[in-house]
Amino acid sequence: MKTLTVDLGARSYPIHIGQNLLGMSELLRPHIHGRQVMVVTNETIAPLYLDSVCLNLGDFELATLILPDGEQYKQLDTLNSIFTALLEHRFNRGCTLAALGGGVIGDITGFAAASYQRGVAYLQIPTTLLAQVDSSVGGKTGVNHALGKNMIGAFHQPGCVVIDTSTLDTLDDRQLAAGLAEVIKYGLIRDAGFFGWLEDNMESLKARDKETLARAIERSCSIKAEIVAADERESGQRALLNLGHTFGHAIETGTGYGNWLHGEAVAAGMAMAAELSVRQGWLPVDALARTEALLQRAGLPTRPPETMDAAHFMSLMAVDKKVIDGGLRLVLLTSIGSAVVSADFSTTELQAMLEMRTRPECA
Ligand SMILES: NC(=O)c1ccc[n+]([C@@H]2O[C@H](COP(=O)([O-])OP(=O)(O)OC[C@H]3O[C@@H](n4cnc5c(N)ncnc54)[C@H](O)[C@@H]3O)[C@@H](O)[C@H]2O)c1
Ligand SMILES: [Zn+2]
Repeated sequence: MKTLTVDLGARSYPIHIGQNLLGMSELLRPHIHGRQVMVVTNETIAPLYLDSVCLNLGDFELATLILPDGEQYKQLDTLNSIFTALLEHRFNRGCTLAALGGGVIGDITGFAAASYQRGVAYLQIPTTLLAQVDSSVGGKTGVNHALGKNMIGAFHQPGCVVIDTSTLDTLDDRQLAAGLAEVIKYGLIRDAGFFGWLEDNMESLKARDKETLARAIERSCSIKAEIVAADERESGQRALLNLGHTFGHAIETGTGYGNWLHGEAVAAGMAMAAELSVRQGWLPVDALARTEALLQRAGLPTRPPETMDAAHFMSLMAVDKKVIDGGLRLVLLTSIGSAVVSADFSTTELQAMLEMRTRPECA
Protein backbone atom coordinates (compact mmCIF):
# COMPACT_ATOMS: atom_id res chain seq x y z
CA MET A 1 0.00 0.00 0.00
CA LYS A 2 1.15 3.55 -0.81
CA THR A 3 -0.04 6.58 1.12
CA LEU A 4 -0.04 10.14 -0.21
CA THR A 5 -1.15 13.22 1.69
CA VAL A 6 -3.29 16.14 0.60
CA ASP A 7 -1.57 18.88 2.54
CA LEU A 8 -4.18 21.33 3.80
CA GLY A 9 -2.93 22.13 7.29
CA ALA A 10 -5.39 21.00 9.93
CA ARG A 11 -7.63 19.54 7.20
CA SER A 12 -4.88 17.41 5.64
CA TYR A 13 -5.87 13.86 4.78
CA PRO A 14 -4.34 10.64 3.50
CA ILE A 15 -4.94 8.87 0.20
CA HIS A 16 -4.27 5.15 0.62
CA ILE A 17 -3.71 3.24 -2.63
CA GLY A 18 -3.41 -0.54 -2.83
CA GLN A 19 -5.06 -3.87 -3.50
CA ASN A 20 -7.77 -5.40 -1.30
CA LEU A 21 -8.12 -2.40 1.02
CA LEU A 22 -11.95 -2.43 1.26
CA GLY A 23 -12.16 -4.62 4.36
CA MET A 24 -9.35 -2.77 6.14
CA SER A 25 -11.48 -0.76 8.53
CA GLU A 26 -8.36 0.42 10.36
CA LEU A 27 -7.79 2.80 7.42
CA LEU A 28 -11.22 4.38 7.94
CA ARG A 29 -11.52 4.31 11.73
CA PRO A 30 -9.17 7.20 12.58
CA HIS A 31 -11.31 9.44 10.35
CA ILE A 32 -14.75 8.41 11.56
CA HIS A 33 -16.34 11.02 13.79
CA GLY A 34 -18.84 9.86 16.40
CA ARG A 35 -20.62 6.51 16.51
CA GLN A 36 -22.94 6.87 13.53
CA VAL A 37 -21.76 5.87 10.04
CA MET A 38 -23.82 5.79 6.86
CA VAL A 39 -22.32 4.10 3.81
CA VAL A 40 -23.87 5.57 0.65
CA THR A 41 -23.56 3.55 -2.55
CA ASN A 42 -25.65 2.52 -5.54
CA GLU A 43 -27.53 -0.54 -6.77
CA THR A 44 -24.64 -1.69 -9.02
CA ILE A 45 -21.87 -1.39 -6.46
CA ALA A 46 -23.79 -2.59 -3.40
CA PRO A 47 -23.87 -6.30 -4.37
CA LEU A 48 -20.18 -6.18 -5.27
CA TYR A 49 -18.55 -4.30 -2.41
CA LEU A 50 -20.92 -3.10 0.31
CA ASP A 51 -20.47 -6.17 2.52
CA SER A 52 -16.67 -5.89 2.45
CA VAL A 53 -16.83 -2.29 3.64
CA CYS A 54 -19.41 -2.99 6.36
CA LEU A 55 -17.88 -6.24 7.58
CA ASN A 56 -15.49 -4.71 10.09
CA LEU A 57 -17.54 -1.67 11.06
CA GLY A 58 -20.13 -3.61 13.06
CA ASP A 59 -19.19 -1.87 16.29
CA PHE A 60 -20.55 1.43 14.92
CA GLU A 61 -24.20 2.41 14.58
CA LEU A 62 -24.07 1.50 10.89
CA ALA A 63 -26.63 2.38 8.21
CA THR A 64 -26.46 1.85 4.47
CA LEU A 65 -28.19 3.71 1.67
CA ILE A 66 -28.43 2.32 -1.85
CA LEU A 67 -29.20 4.92 -4.51
CA PRO A 68 -30.22 4.35 -8.13
CA ASP A 69 -27.27 4.23 -10.54
CA GLY A 70 -26.56 6.95 -13.07
CA GLU A 71 -25.41 10.49 -13.74
CA GLN A 72 -29.07 11.48 -14.20
CA TYR A 73 -29.54 10.82 -10.47
CA LYS A 74 -26.81 13.28 -9.50
CA GLN A 75 -29.46 15.87 -8.72
CA LEU A 76 -31.35 17.54 -5.90
CA ASP A 77 -34.10 14.92 -5.47
CA THR A 78 -31.51 12.23 -4.80
CA LEU A 79 -29.67 14.53 -2.42
CA ASN A 80 -32.92 14.99 -0.55
CA SER A 81 -33.34 11.23 -0.28
CA ILE A 82 -29.97 11.09 1.53
CA PHE A 83 -31.15 13.76 3.98
CA THR A 84 -34.37 11.82 4.53
CA ALA A 85 -32.45 8.63 5.31
CA LEU A 86 -30.13 10.47 7.69
CA LEU A 87 -33.07 12.03 9.53
CA GLU A 88 -35.02 8.78 9.64
CA HIS A 89 -32.00 7.12 11.24
CA ARG A 90 -31.72 10.09 13.61
CA PHE A 91 -28.17 10.76 12.56
CA ASN A 92 -26.73 13.71 14.44
CA ARG A 93 -24.15 16.36 13.76
CA GLY A 94 -21.38 14.02 14.85
CA CYS A 95 -22.10 11.39 12.19
CA THR A 96 -19.89 10.32 9.29
CA LEU A 97 -20.87 9.46 5.71
CA ALA A 98 -18.84 7.11 3.54
CA ALA A 99 -19.12 7.34 -0.26
CA LEU A 100 -18.62 3.93 -1.87
CA GLY A 101 -18.71 4.21 -5.65
CA GLY A 102 -17.77 6.29 -8.66
CA GLY A 103 -17.73 10.04 -9.03
CA VAL A 104 -21.51 10.33 -8.96
CA ILE A 105 -21.76 8.73 -5.52
CA GLY A 106 -18.68 10.63 -4.32
CA ASP A 107 -19.93 14.04 -5.47
CA ILE A 108 -23.46 13.64 -4.13
CA THR A 109 -22.45 12.05 -0.82
CA GLY A 110 -19.80 14.71 -0.31
CA PHE A 111 -22.37 17.43 -0.90
CA ALA A 112 -24.81 15.75 1.49
CA ALA A 113 -22.01 15.74 4.09
CA ALA A 114 -21.21 19.39 3.35
CA SER A 115 -24.77 20.48 4.03
CA TYR A 116 -26.34 18.00 6.49
CA GLN A 117 -26.63 19.83 9.81
CA ARG A 118 -24.24 22.45 8.35
CA GLY A 119 -21.52 19.93 7.68
CA VAL A 120 -20.51 16.46 8.84
CA ALA A 121 -17.49 14.26 8.16
CA TYR A 122 -17.21 11.98 5.15
CA LEU A 123 -14.85 9.43 3.66
CA GLN A 124 -14.21 8.58 0.03
CA ILE A 125 -13.97 4.97 -1.13
CA PRO A 126 -13.81 5.39 -4.92
CA THR A 127 -14.44 2.36 -7.13
CA THR A 128 -14.05 3.70 -10.69
CA LEU A 129 -10.73 4.69 -12.23
CA LEU A 130 -12.12 8.19 -12.77
CA ALA A 131 -13.05 8.56 -9.12
CA GLN A 132 -9.73 7.05 -8.00
CA VAL A 133 -7.63 9.48 -10.00
CA ASP A 134 -9.78 12.58 -9.77
CA SER A 135 -13.18 13.08 -8.18
CA SER A 136 -12.48 11.50 -4.76
CA VAL A 137 -9.57 13.87 -4.12
CA GLY A 138 -9.85 17.61 -3.60
CA GLY A 139 -13.20 18.21 -1.93
CA LYS A 140 -15.32 19.41 -4.85
CA THR A 141 -18.82 18.11 -4.21
CA GLY A 142 -22.17 18.79 -5.78
CA VAL A 143 -25.03 17.90 -8.09
CA ASN A 144 -26.17 18.81 -11.59
CA HIS A 145 -29.00 21.12 -12.59
CA ALA A 146 -31.02 20.60 -15.76
CA LEU A 147 -29.48 23.84 -17.03
CA GLY A 148 -25.88 23.08 -16.15
CA LYS A 149 -23.45 20.45 -14.96
CA ASN A 150 -22.24 20.64 -11.31
CA MET A 151 -24.00 23.96 -10.84
CA ILE A 152 -24.94 23.36 -7.18
CA GLY A 153 -22.26 22.32 -4.76
CA ALA A 154 -19.70 23.04 -2.08
CA PHE A 155 -16.05 22.58 -1.24
CA HIS A 156 -15.86 19.97 1.51
CA GLN A 157 -12.75 17.86 2.03
CA PRO A 158 -13.04 14.19 2.98
CA GLY A 159 -11.33 12.76 6.07
CA CYS A 160 -9.54 10.16 4.00
CA VAL A 161 -9.54 8.48 0.59
CA VAL A 162 -9.18 4.70 0.36
CA ILE A 163 -8.42 3.52 -3.18
CA ASP A 164 -8.75 -0.24 -3.53
CA THR A 165 -7.39 -0.94 -7.00
CA SER A 166 -8.92 -4.46 -6.95
CA THR A 167 -12.34 -2.87 -7.46
CA LEU A 168 -11.29 -2.02 -11.02
CA ASP A 169 -11.57 -5.74 -11.91
CA THR A 170 -15.34 -5.40 -12.23
CA LEU A 171 -15.34 -2.10 -14.12
CA ASP A 172 -16.24 -2.33 -17.79
CA ASP A 173 -13.85 -1.24 -20.53
CA ARG A 174 -15.81 1.88 -21.42
CA GLN A 175 -15.65 3.14 -17.82
CA LEU A 176 -11.96 2.29 -17.59
CA ALA A 177 -11.31 4.35 -20.73
CA ALA A 178 -13.31 7.25 -19.27
CA GLY A 179 -10.99 7.25 -16.26
CA LEU A 180 -7.96 7.26 -18.55
CA ALA A 181 -9.17 10.60 -19.95
CA GLU A 182 -8.50 12.29 -16.60
CA VAL A 183 -5.16 10.44 -16.30
CA ILE A 184 -4.10 11.81 -19.70
CA LYS A 185 -5.26 15.25 -18.55
CA TYR A 186 -2.63 15.28 -15.78
CA GLY A 187 0.11 14.58 -18.31
CA LEU A 188 -1.16 17.34 -20.58
CA ILE A 189 -1.44 20.06 -17.94
CA ARG A 190 1.49 19.22 -15.70
CA ASP A 191 3.89 16.46 -16.62
CA ALA A 192 5.32 15.81 -20.09
CA GLY A 193 7.33 12.88 -18.69
CA PHE A 194 4.14 11.25 -17.44
CA PHE A 195 2.47 11.87 -20.81
CA GLY A 196 5.40 10.07 -22.49
CA TRP A 197 5.12 7.24 -19.97
CA LEU A 198 1.41 6.95 -20.84
CA GLU A 199 2.32 6.76 -24.53
CA ASP A 200 4.70 3.89 -23.70
CA ASN A 201 2.26 2.08 -21.41
CA MET A 202 -1.21 2.58 -22.89
CA GLU A 203 -1.52 -1.06 -23.95
CA SER A 204 -0.66 -2.29 -20.42
CA LEU A 205 -3.19 0.13 -18.94
CA LYS A 206 -5.90 -1.06 -21.32
CA ALA A 207 -4.98 -4.65 -20.46
CA ARG A 208 -5.40 -3.69 -16.76
CA ASP A 209 -1.90 -4.61 -15.74
CA LYS A 210 -2.10 -4.07 -11.96
CA GLU A 211 1.29 -2.50 -11.47
CA THR A 212 0.93 -0.09 -14.40
CA LEU A 213 -2.55 0.96 -13.26
CA ALA A 214 -1.31 1.53 -9.71
CA ARG A 215 1.51 3.74 -11.00
CA ALA A 216 -0.90 5.77 -13.13
CA ILE A 217 -3.23 6.22 -10.13
CA GLU A 218 -0.39 7.25 -7.83
CA ARG A 219 1.03 9.81 -10.24
CA SER A 220 -2.43 11.21 -10.98
CA CYS A 221 -3.32 11.52 -7.29
CA SER A 222 -0.01 13.11 -6.44
CA ILE A 223 -0.45 15.76 -9.15
CA LYS A 224 -4.01 16.42 -8.00
CA ALA A 225 -2.96 16.55 -4.32
CA GLU A 226 -0.21 19.03 -5.12
CA ILE A 227 -2.52 21.32 -7.11
CA VAL A 228 -5.30 21.18 -4.50
CA ALA A 229 -2.85 21.90 -1.67
CA ALA A 230 -1.61 24.97 -3.54
CA ASP A 231 -5.06 26.28 -4.52
CA GLU A 232 -7.88 24.59 -2.63
CA ARG A 233 -10.66 26.99 -3.71
CA GLU A 234 -9.65 27.39 -7.34
CA SER A 235 -8.52 30.97 -7.33
CA GLY A 236 -5.60 30.12 -9.59
CA GLN A 237 -3.85 26.97 -10.82
CA ARG A 238 -6.58 24.52 -9.75
CA ALA A 239 -8.56 25.77 -12.75
CA LEU A 240 -6.02 23.96 -14.97
CA LEU A 241 -7.68 20.71 -13.87
CA ASN A 242 -10.63 21.85 -15.98
CA LEU A 243 -8.77 21.26 -19.25
CA GLY A 244 -11.37 20.06 -21.75
CA HIS A 245 -14.16 20.47 -19.21
CA THR A 246 -15.86 23.57 -20.59
CA PHE A 247 -16.42 21.77 -23.89
CA GLY A 248 -16.95 18.47 -22.05
CA HIS A 249 -19.65 19.82 -19.75
CA ALA A 250 -21.42 21.29 -22.80
CA ILE A 251 -21.39 17.80 -24.35
CA GLU A 252 -22.70 16.17 -21.17
CA THR A 253 -25.51 18.70 -20.81
CA GLY A 254 -26.20 18.87 -24.55
CA THR A 255 -26.54 15.11 -25.00
CA GLY A 256 -28.50 14.54 -21.76
CA TYR A 257 -26.72 13.42 -18.58
CA GLY A 258 -25.55 9.83 -18.70
CA ASN A 259 -25.39 9.38 -22.47
CA TRP A 260 -21.81 10.50 -22.94
CA LEU A 261 -19.65 9.51 -19.97
CA HIS A 262 -17.91 12.38 -18.19
CA GLY A 263 -14.48 11.04 -19.23
CA GLU A 264 -15.57 10.65 -22.85
CA ALA A 265 -16.87 14.21 -22.96
CA VAL A 266 -13.65 15.48 -21.38
CA ALA A 267 -11.57 13.54 -23.94
CA ALA A 268 -13.35 15.20 -26.85
CA GLY A 269 -13.12 18.50 -24.96
CA MET A 270 -9.34 18.16 -24.51
CA ALA A 271 -8.88 17.51 -28.23
CA MET A 272 -10.99 20.62 -28.91
CA ALA A 273 -8.93 22.69 -26.44
CA ALA A 274 -5.73 21.39 -28.06
CA GLU A 275 -6.98 22.33 -31.52
CA LEU A 276 -7.90 25.83 -30.38
CA SER A 277 -4.45 26.13 -28.79
CA VAL A 278 -2.87 25.23 -32.15
CA ARG A 279 -5.10 27.74 -33.97
CA GLN A 280 -3.94 30.41 -31.53
CA GLY A 281 -0.35 29.56 -32.38
CA TRP A 282 0.30 28.58 -28.76
CA LEU A 283 0.74 24.83 -29.29
CA PRO A 284 2.78 23.04 -31.98
CA VAL A 285 0.64 20.97 -34.31
CA ASP A 286 2.49 17.73 -33.49
CA ALA A 287 1.40 18.10 -29.84
CA LEU A 288 -2.23 18.07 -31.03
CA ALA A 289 -1.49 14.93 -33.05
CA ARG A 290 0.10 13.20 -30.03
CA THR A 291 -2.85 14.20 -27.84
CA GLU A 292 -5.42 12.83 -30.27
CA ALA A 293 -3.42 9.66 -30.87
CA LEU A 294 -3.12 8.90 -27.15
CA LEU A 295 -6.82 9.57 -26.51
CA GLN A 296 -7.75 7.30 -29.40
CA ARG A 297 -5.45 4.54 -28.17
CA ALA A 298 -7.19 4.81 -24.81
CA GLY A 299 -10.47 4.14 -26.65
CA LEU A 300 -11.76 7.70 -26.27
CA PRO A 301 -13.51 10.09 -28.68
CA THR A 302 -11.69 13.15 -30.00
CA ARG A 303 -14.71 14.73 -31.69
CA PRO A 304 -17.99 15.89 -30.16
CA PRO A 305 -21.29 14.13 -30.86
CA GLU A 306 -22.71 14.63 -34.35
CA THR A 307 -25.94 15.91 -32.85
CA MET A 308 -24.31 19.11 -31.56
CA ASP A 309 -23.42 22.13 -33.66
CA ALA A 310 -21.29 25.19 -32.94
CA ALA A 311 -24.24 27.35 -31.87
CA HIS A 312 -25.39 24.70 -29.39
CA PHE A 313 -21.89 24.66 -27.86
CA MET A 314 -21.77 28.44 -27.59
CA SER A 315 -25.10 28.65 -25.79
CA LEU A 316 -24.25 25.84 -23.35
CA MET A 317 -20.79 27.22 -22.63
CA ALA A 318 -22.31 30.53 -21.65
CA VAL A 319 -23.54 28.99 -18.37
CA ASP A 320 -20.24 27.28 -17.61
CA LYS A 321 -18.73 28.23 -14.28
CA LYS A 322 -15.56 29.50 -15.88
CA VAL A 323 -17.45 32.39 -17.40
CA ILE A 324 -16.39 35.21 -15.12
CA ASP A 325 -17.83 38.69 -15.52
CA GLY A 326 -19.20 37.84 -18.93
CA GLY A 327 -15.93 36.57 -20.42
CA LEU A 328 -15.42 32.92 -21.31
CA ARG A 329 -12.19 31.55 -19.84
CA LEU A 330 -10.70 28.38 -21.24
CA VAL A 331 -7.83 26.13 -20.28
CA LEU A 332 -5.48 26.01 -23.26
CA LEU A 333 -2.19 24.23 -23.84
CA THR A 334 1.18 25.81 -24.50
CA SER A 335 3.00 22.47 -24.75
CA ILE A 336 2.47 18.90 -23.63
CA GLY A 337 2.89 19.29 -19.90
CA SER A 338 1.86 22.92 -19.54
CA ALA A 339 -1.40 24.80 -19.72
CA VAL A 340 -2.81 28.27 -19.07
CA VAL A 341 -6.22 29.63 -18.16
CA SER A 342 -7.05 32.39 -20.57
CA ALA A 343 -9.80 34.66 -21.80
CA ASP A 344 -7.36 36.01 -24.32
CA PHE A 345 -8.16 33.80 -27.29
CA SER A 346 -9.78 34.72 -30.57
CA THR A 347 -13.54 34.14 -30.68
CA THR A 348 -13.21 33.72 -34.43
CA GLU A 349 -10.78 30.82 -33.91
CA LEU A 350 -13.08 29.33 -31.25
CA GLN A 351 -15.97 29.53 -33.67
CA ALA A 352 -13.85 28.05 -36.49
CA MET A 353 -12.67 25.18 -34.27
CA LEU A 354 -16.27 24.42 -33.22
CA GLU A 355 -17.47 24.49 -36.83
CA MET A 356 -14.63 22.21 -37.92
CA ARG A 357 -15.01 19.68 -35.09
CA THR A 358 -18.80 19.48 -35.34
CA ARG A 359 -18.77 19.02 -39.12
CA PRO A 360 -19.51 15.41 -40.13
CA GLU A 361 -16.22 13.60 -40.75
CA CYS A 362 -15.45 12.69 -44.38
CA ALA A 363 -15.37 8.96 -44.94
N1 LIG B 1 -15.52 16.20 -7.68
C1 LIG B 1 -14.62 16.24 -8.63
O1 LIG B 1 -13.57 16.84 -8.48
C2 LIG B 1 -14.89 15.52 -9.91
C3 LIG B 1 -13.85 15.29 -10.80
C4 LIG B 1 -14.12 14.55 -11.95
C5 LIG B 1 -15.39 14.06 -12.18
N2 LIG B 1 -16.39 14.32 -11.29
C6 LIG B 1 -17.73 13.79 -11.48
O2 LIG B 1 -17.66 12.38 -11.44
C7 LIG B 1 -18.76 11.85 -12.17
C8 LIG B 1 -18.27 10.71 -13.03
O3 LIG B 1 -17.74 9.70 -12.22
P1 LIG B 1 -17.57 8.21 -12.75
O4 LIG B 1 -16.94 8.23 -14.08
O5 LIG B 1 -16.93 7.45 -11.67
O6 LIG B 1 -19.07 7.74 -13.01
P2 LIG B 1 -20.13 6.94 -12.11
O7 LIG B 1 -20.04 7.31 -10.71
O8 LIG B 1 -21.43 7.08 -12.80
O9 LIG B 1 -19.65 5.42 -12.27
C9 LIG B 1 -19.65 4.83 -13.53
C10 LIG B 1 -20.43 3.50 -13.56
O10 LIG B 1 -19.61 2.46 -13.02
C11 LIG B 1 -20.33 1.78 -12.00
N3 LIG B 1 -19.30 1.31 -11.07
C12 LIG B 1 -18.63 2.03 -10.15
N4 LIG B 1 -17.66 1.30 -9.62
C13 LIG B 1 -17.72 0.08 -10.20
C14 LIG B 1 -16.96 -1.10 -10.07
N5 LIG B 1 -15.88 -1.16 -9.28
N6 LIG B 1 -17.31 -2.18 -10.79
C15 LIG B 1 -18.36 -2.11 -11.66
N7 LIG B 1 -19.11 -1.01 -11.85
C16 LIG B 1 -18.78 0.08 -11.11
C17 LIG B 1 -21.27 2.79 -11.46
O11 LIG B 1 -22.35 2.19 -10.79
C18 LIG B 1 -21.70 3.50 -12.75
O12 LIG B 1 -22.67 2.75 -13.42
C19 LIG B 1 -19.35 12.99 -12.95
O13 LIG B 1 -20.56 13.39 -12.35
C20 LIG B 1 -18.31 14.08 -12.82
O14 LIG B 1 -18.88 15.37 -12.88
C21 LIG B 1 -16.15 15.03 -10.16
ZN1 LIG C 1 -13.43 15.67 -14.93
